[in-house]
Amino acid sequence: MKILVIGSGGREHALCWKLAQSAGVEIFAAPGNPGMARVATCAAGQPFEVAERIRPDLTVVGPEAPLVRGVVDEFRARGWRIVGPARDAAQLEGSKIFAKNFFRQSGIPTAEFVTVENHEDARKALQRFGYPVVLKADGLAAGKGVIVARDRAEAEAGLAALAGMGGRLVIEEFLTGEEVSFIALCDGRDAVPLAPTQDHKAVFDGDCGPNTGGMGAYCDSAILDPAQSRDILERVIYPTVERTRFTGFLYAGLMMTAAGPKVLEFNVRLGDPETQPLMHRMESDFVPALMAAAEGHLAGTGLAWRAGPSVCVVMASAGYPGAYEPGKPIHGIAEAEADGATVFQAGTRIAANGQLETAGGRVLGVTAAGADLQAAIDAAYRAVHEIRFEGAHYRTDIAAKGLRRARKKSAVRETTGRGKVV
Ligand code: AMP
Ligand code: GLY
Repeated sequence: MKILVIGSGGREHALCWKLAQSAGVEIFAAPGNPGMARVATCAAGQPFEVAERIRPDLTVVGPEAPLVRGVVDEFRARGWRIVGPARDAAQLEGSKIFAKNFFRQSGIPTAEFVTVENHEDARKALQRFGYPVVLKADGLAAGKGVIVARDRAEAEAGLAALAGMGGRLVIEEFLTGEEVSFIALCDGRDAVPLAPTQDHKAVFDGDCGPNTGGMGAYCDSAILDPAQSRDILERVIYPTVERTRFTGFLYAGLMMTAAGPKVLEFNVRLGDPETQPLMHRMESDFVPALMAAAEGHLAGTGLAWRAGPSVCVVMASAGYPGAYEPGKPIHGIAEAEADGATVFQAGTRIAANGQLETAGGRVLGVTAAGADLQAAIDAAYRAVHEIRFEGAHYRTDIAAKGLRRARKKSAVRETTGRGKVV
């Protein structure tokens, strides 16, 4: 069976790596990257042209841009199997205004908000909110269209910074709690949840500095308890699948507030870097589930996960998420992998002399498993320390929130176990 994966990032490398473990499959990637080339045949060209040449039995789309452009409609019109949402449903990610109105109409819990069409209305609308307040540009912005403003001056500066993105904005209440990425595979009627993950969007430790595409993620069943997962399925995922006939990966970015889960955003694809620890930890053969999603018979499908967590630390170029200089030679991947980690490649390329070098902001997703979260964190960072490229930077606290949550839970268990707090 031929499977085509569309995309060229760490998410797509992780997908190819996982699919290549299934029996009887041949993997193609368009356009792919040097990491994907280790397990797939990479082909240049637009998705449609590549599919016409290769005639895959199944196509899986990684990034949002081709989905928002309608690649799924194009494939389906020719009777080709593809995992992803139709163009209309992809608006749930393509337009934040569309998504927020959808949440409101469908009774899906989300932050209080107003939508505005221009700068003047935005300034007026700000008076209705306290601080901090959140400003979101309407269209796709690669993770850079959201500003949390702590006071009026920051809000004014934020409006000015977002002005270049078209003027249409969502202004919304600031929520507090833990962020969780909840992703489900859907076939238009049914939805199969993947294990919960947690991303780390800010560039520096302690969630400081500007937002990035994601500096690391981990996958651990303990991120949500079963009652919370059911609640999210029932209040967020199922109503969306029912109302939009959603197919593909529905990704709810959630804030777990004191009043329950609230949706910060929908993505209509797998997360990057969430996919790296997800694929690493998935025990099931993924191909039958993807086939079932593409053919509309997901009902009854379940996915199994290894007991221990997986942790992915992103190594980025100096300067990211701002400007960075590519072309830095990368060393140490083989040593890191000999030590048991899996290194997913994102912004990499092969230089004329055959040397692997940096070619993007996020360069590598160094991923490892462990019997418990601390062991997985230690294994991932041991591997990170084996890898070198000039200016490499990474967060040193990926999954630390998970450790704190576990400590808090065990403290509660101890105090309740004694019957009173001492
Ligand atoms: P989004 O692209 O909408 O997920 O926003 C990017 C990031 O901004 C989120 O991952 C949060 O960290 C933060 N954010 C977005 N909306 C809110 C909100 N209403 N309250 C607090 N933080 C938010
Ligand atoms: N990691 C966040 C995203 O994929 O949008």
